This record gives sequence, C-alpha cells and structure tokens, in this order.
Amino acid sequence: MTSPLDKLDALEKELSRLSTAEDKLNSVTAYLRDTRDSSRRIIHDIRTETSETDDEAKTGKRLTMLMRQHGLLEAYAELQIPKMLSEAVKPLENVLCANVDITNGRICQEEGKQACGGCKLVLYCSKTCQTQHWRLHKNDCKDPIRSPNWKPAWIVEKRSPTFMSGNNTLNERWQNDVDRIALTRAHLWGNIPAYDVLALARNETVLGKDYNVAFVASGDLRNVVFTVNGLPEEFSGRLTIILNDRDSHVTLRNILLLSLLGLPDVNSAAELALHAWYSVFLPMEYAAQVSHAGFRALQDLKVDGSIHMQLSPTSTLAGQVSDDIRSHFLACLDDTSFGMGEAAREYERVRFAPSRVDRHHRWYGRLEPSHRLACLEYRRFGLVLPFGAKNDHFNMPNRTLFSSDGCWLQNDLANPLDGWNAKSIVEAGRKHGASRADLYGCLYFFLSEQLRVFARRLRKFRISFHIFNRDASDLSKAIRAGNLASYGVPSTIRFDRVDVSNIMDAEYVGIPRIVTFWGPLLATGQHATLLGYFMNWVNRQKGGNINSLDPKASEYSGMMEGLEDEGKIPRLTNRSLATAQEYAGMIGVYMGFLMTKYDNSKAFQTYLDKHGMAEVLQKAQLKLLYDNELHNISELAAVWVVLRVICLNSQTVNRGILMPASTNSYGQSVSSRLYGRNLVEGLDYFVQS
Ligand SMILES: C[S@@+](CC[C@H](N)C(=O)[O-])C[C@H]1O[C@@H](n2cnc3c(N)ncnc32)[C@H](O)[C@@H]1O
Ligand SMILES: [Zn+2]
Ligand SMILES: [Zn+2]
Repeated sequence: MTSPLDKLDALEKELSRLSTAEDKLNSVTAYLRDTRDSSRRIIHDIRTETSETDDEAKTGKRLTMLMRQHGLLEAYAELQIPKMLSEAVKPLENVLCANVDITNGRICQEEGKQACGGCKLVLYCSKTCQTQHWRLHKNDCKDPIRSPNWKPAWIVEKRSPTFMSGNNTLNERWQNDVDRIALTRAHLWGNIPAYDVLALARNETVLGKDYNVAFVASGDLRNVVFTVNGLPEEFSGRLTIILNDRDSHVTLRNILLLSLLGLPDVNSAAELALHAWYSVFLPMEYAAQVSHAGFRALQDLKVDGSIHMQLSPTSTLAGQVSDDIRSHFLACLDDTSFGMGEAAREYERVRFAPSRVDRHHRWYGRLEPSHRLACLEYRRFGLVLPFGAKNDHFNMPNRTLFSSDGCWLQNDLANPLDGWNAKSIVEAGRKHGASRADLYGCLYFFLSEQLRVFARRLRKFRISFHIFNRDASDLSKAIRAGNLASYGVPSTIRFDRVDVSNIMDAEYVGIPRIVTFWGPLLATGQHATLLGYFMNWVNRQKGGNINSLDPKASEYSGMMEGLEDEGKIPRLTNRSLATAQEYAGMIGVYMGFLMTKYDNSKAFQTYLDKHGMAEVLQKAQLKLLYDNELHNISELAAVWVVLRVICLNSQTVNRGILMPASTNSYGQSVSSRLYGRNLVEGLDYFVQS
C-alpha cells in the first residue's frame, strides 16, 4: 500500500506536469477522494496514534501549500467543492442499524428497529445484526458509567467534592480552572433553552405587518431560529433582525451558519449547519463546504468591515463587523495551522481536565445510566449523531470552534443540549426512531427538523438581518445617532422586541444601562417588549442561593422530603452509617434538584430594588411584566430559580406583572409545570417518563 506521503509526492509531480487549471483541479480531487477513502479512522484512534496523526497533519499542510503554489485554492473552493458536495451531504432521515464495524468494513444500511435491551442507546435491524455486533457493543453497553452502581469520584475516593469546599490542591486548581476556563472562554453555544421572542400567535397576531427585532447580545442563532420558525405559515410582512454580539467568534459563526442555511438545497443546508454549529469534527466534504461558505462571506466583507450578502432570493444580511472577523475567517480557511490529531488532543485536554472531574460527575450523578453514557460519548467525540452511527468520516476539525492556533474556544461544560428544550428534543427524536436514551441522536433529529424549517423560511419570508459586533450600549448609541443608517438601520427604527439575554446581570451591562439604552428604542404599543434574564444574581444577593439556607431549617427538610416523594433522591429510612455518609456526599448532586424547590423570589425582588429597577423603569416609562402567557419564557425559568426572566413592556397601564420563576413558591409542586433549564428540567423529565 502506498503511504499518504508517497501519494502526495506523486500528486506534486503530476501538478507540475499538467498545464491547465482544470486538469490540475481534477487530479487534486482524485487525490483527495483516494486518500479520504483509505484514511478513515475513528477519532479515538487518531488521538492515540501520534505518529500517524503527525504524518496526516504534514500531508494536509503540504497539500494546501501545493495548491497555493499552483494557484488552485480559490478555483478549488469555487468549482470543485460544490460538485463534491452534491454527492456527499446525506442527512439521516431515521436511525440506522448500529451494526457498524469500521475495521472489518461491515456497515449495515438497514433501518434500526429493535433497541438493545440493555442500554436502549442503539437500534438493530435484526437479531442477526445485534448478535454480530455484540462483540463491539458490549464495551458501550457495559461501560462502567452505565452501571447502576456508578458513583461520583469523590464518593468512591471518600473525599469531599472539589466544588463544595475544603482546602485541597485539587480544589485550588479547580478554582483556577473555573476562572480561566469556565468563565473567560467564549459562549459559542447558548446555555439557556431557545425561546421565540415574537410569539406572534400569542401576542400581536397581525400577520401582514413588518416587525423589528433586536438581539443585542445574541450569542448563537438559536433564538433567531426559534423566532423565525415560530412565525405562522401565512406571515407576509418583512422581518428585520438586528443580530449583535461583541464576541467576534460568535459573530463569525453566525455569519457562516446563516450563509450555510441559505444554500439552495434546504436538506443539505440544514445538515451542514447542524454539524458546523455543534460537531467538533466534520466530514471532509462538510469542512470543505464550510470553508467555501467562509470564502464567499470573505468576498462580501469589505476592508472597512461592512458586509452585504444575499442569503437567499428573499433574505439578506448586511452590517458592519470588527477587524478580527476577517482574520478569524482567514484562520478558518487555513488548514495548515493545526491538523485533526492536534484538534482531537486539544479537545480531549479541555474536556477531560483532571481538575474538573467532580464537576462532570456532579452532573452525571443526576442522570440516568444511559444518559450518562450518551453525555460521556459526546464529551469524548464531540459529534451530534445517533449513538453508534458510523462516524469514521468525521475526520477534519471544525475550525470555527477552535482559535487560529488550535485552542478549543469553549469550556469543558459547553453542551449543545443546554440550548434547547429537552422535551422537544426527545419528541423529535422519537419521530425518527431514536430512543429517549439516545440524547444526542434525538438532538440530531430535532436540529435537523428545526434547521430545515428555518432554511425553507429563509427562502420564503422576507428577512433582513443586520449584523454588528459591538458592545450593546455602543450599538444603541450608534443607532440613535444615525451612524448605522448606511447599513439599513435608520435612527428612527423602533423595535417590537429587544432581547438582551442576560447582560442585565451586573457582571455585564447591568439593569440601569440596559433600560436606559434600549428602553427608548422600543416601539410603542402594548406588545413591544424588552426581554432578559438574570443568571448570576443568586450569589450576589442574600437568600438567592439555597446555600444560604440553614440545612437544619424545617424548610430544608421539607424540600428534601418533597424530593424523596418524587423519587429523585433515596429515602433515608433504615439508614446505616455508610448510606448516611454517602447521602451526605451526594448533597452536591442533590443540590441541583433542591434548587428547583427553593423559593428565592423575595430575594430576587430585593436584588431588583437594590439595583434601582423601580427608578429606571419609571424614567424609561416601562413596566415590568409578570405575564406567563406573553412569551412562554416561563418555561425557561419556571424551575431553575437561579435564572430569572423579566419582560419590560412599554405600555404603562393595565399590565399585570409576571415573574415566572418567582411564583414557584415552595409547596406548589413545580413538577406540574414545564421546566426550562435543561439540566434540571431535562433530568426531571427524563427521570419521570
Ligand atoms: C451574556 S452571554 C451568556 C450566555 C447566554 N446565557 C447564552 O445562552 O447565550 C451571551 C452573549 O452575550 C455577549 N455579550 C456579553 N456582553 C455583551 C455586551 N456588553 N455587548 C454585546 N454582547 C455581549 C457574549 O459575547 C455572549 O455571546
Ligand atoms: Zn446496549
Ligand atoms: Zn442490520
């Protein structure tokens, strides 16, 4: 067998012999097809086989150099990639039989019908396939993390967990990591379930009118997707969307995803966007298409940072972004900087940082066994696919998730599941044959559905995106000063909704400035609303966190009993010393459940008072809403009491006031509601059904 390096030598000779660009391109394509087919390996192998990986990185880099030398890079992106793609992008419509054995080249293409009785994570078309695959599957099925006796590391090692207290070195290191990794890194994936900011059917209900919506600290596109997908089919107005985030990686990804979603074939568009959004590695053809989209966006991006793109026949994207966007784009196009092996090792380094184990185990501790494995699998491989699906072709890094020098941009806890409602994920999965256990398989089908609808709507509705990459307060100033008029945002624009995410939190912009800057830009009328939530207030306000409650308080034991009744935590009858100790050790895990029972609404009111909410509202002539029906965001907040959602509405009369989460007074069973924060909601939902 010829080695990849030999093949590249041959290609090099051939390229210097050929004279036309077309011939050269054809031989590059032939080379790529050939090496792709012979170099497929699963990520795990790539991570451990250092030498081969380095070879691979070397050939990758040399190939790019060669193409550059022959002036082929642009022509390649322009001509060959779309051709290759039409053959290669194949979204899954249903779960396939899990009888996949890459090493022996055995891949069953039938639909999966029968779930493995042990884990329910994989499906087989037949008993024969299941039997044949058991030799491989038993490693997953019997993975220790799926054992009913699995325990968090701190319990097994009989020590206190690093996230609780204690002054050990591991704890200090953890603290450092929290500061360095968890807080300072980018949020490329939202961590609050998506919501529809317009919810027209519930609010204005007028379908023939134009609407203006501003996402002033948008994070990823999920609220945009949900808002557009929530429009009634008969909507006939124009939708103007301001998409702003000060983080340039976020902005770059939003531009890229929108341009992928505008591709003519909606099914391929959705498939590409899904993986570009959430999969850490991509099939070669997909990576090429992402680069191609980047390449086109780069052409539409002028040196002064202005950008104008036609996304589809009916939708456009215009705006102005910072200088770094250009360099990020170039970095994403440059596949010489780091290779698959380096990316895979970097991903593993962050995801499995030893100092963070207890954090991960605290989370696993709340999950049922197969969900633990599903989550561990994503931690290992970073692919949004049905469990056990063929994945050996995902062997290029998704460069939009790494810095130009190959650092994983997010923290170790970043999780695609956090951005969407768990119940909807599982329902979508079921429709395509995925079982409830297979969380990321369900997520695959959920996203595939959502993104197909969105891609279709990009071509059906008239949507104007205006993208900016500034501080939210500066953006408001620039709009009001008329500085953005040339990008299609006149100073007279008024918004039907302004979504500020959680930058009203004091760490970000804070209440007074948000209300002062964005209040005046709200349209008049009873539906115009500024939406936002608070995530970090609990630790700044006495009584905000359940930690501030005395464990001996009757309220506390009441909540524990409530959780026992619901079967979330074991009942401490017949307690032996050993179980009592273990129980105490599990408090870190149970705390997540306990928070759902804890009423901190008074503390929240105090927090708002202290931060001058009443005065700024009066000045801005806005009113705080407590209306569950308004946007149904109550779902987000109903239980995870750390998170508080508020809506500020411009109508000053006759509006009830709603604080969705805070009505969660203890004693009213929260389980009667739809929970929002997926970790808690999800768990609850998964445990119950
Ligand atoms: C506040 S963060 C928190 C994550 C959020 N819970 C989510 O699910 O996306 C959301 C986004 O706000 C952006 N952001 C933070 N401060 C900002 C500011 N002053 N102006 C504009 N965007 C900001 C961040 O870059 C990030 O992408
Ligand atoms: Zn199994
Ligand atoms: Zn089969």
